[in-house]
Amino acid sequence: MKKEIIIDNPTSSNGYAVHRLISQCPPLDENSIYANLLQCTHFSSTSALAHVDGRIVGFVSGYILPGNPQCIFIWQVAVAEEARGKGLAKNMVSYILNNESCKSVTHLHTTITKENLPSRALFRKISIELNTEMKETPLFNREIHFLDEKDSEFLIDIGPFQSHQADQGVKN
Ligand SMILES: CC(C)(COP(=O)(O)OP(=O)(O)OC[C@H]1O[C@@H](n2cnc3c(N)ncnc32)[C@H](O)[C@@H]1OP(=O)(O)O)[C@@H](O)C(=O)NCCC(=O)NCCS
Repeated sequence: MKKEIIIDNPTSSNGYAVHRLISQCPPLDENSIYANLLQCTHFSSTSALAHVDGRIVGFVSGYILPGNPQCIFIWQVAVAEEARGKGLAKNMVSYILNNESCKSVTHLHTTITKENLPSRALFRKISIELNTEMKETPLFNREIHFLDEKDSEFLIDIGPFQSHQADQGVKN
């Protein structure tokens, strides 16, 4: 029998498993376990965890931008290989947008490298389903900010949208 994937907000007890999942999802940067624990506690209500039969298969970390309650920043999206291509990343973002913590949110920000086409396609799809625009501007530059160690990151700005529209827009 096919087991159902459940999406929840993470808790501190998920921090270690989240760290392991991210390590298996290149090209994502691995943060420290401590950083993942903070995401799972301080930023729990703006993050999502997907699990099936006790196994963690997806994670999205996000937070409301300091000083701007209308904007959620999506930090990382990770889906285990076995669970890809089924709408899970999209559904986790939708789950976050439908949380009470996002009731004032009208814009979603994230950053993407030019090379990460799956990520770009994911956020393009989210903007289409939210029936809004997606704009892209340079944010962190390879030479200036990463001293040539990492590719440039571009700021993606999706919005405006009404947070209640997340119900109707990004479908679960
Ligand atoms: C990118 C990633 C999160 C997508 O997860 P997923 O659950 O397979 O994505 P979804 O099924 O929700 O896809 C939603 C949309 O994104 C697009 N998409 C997702 N993966 C894609 C891929 N490999 N190639 C092209 N488009 C892709 C599709 O347009 C899809 O829309 P569709 O339903 O019309 O096909 C997953 O591949 C992953 O964890 N990759 C490694 C880590 C990473 O790059 N994270 C993103 C950076 S934040």
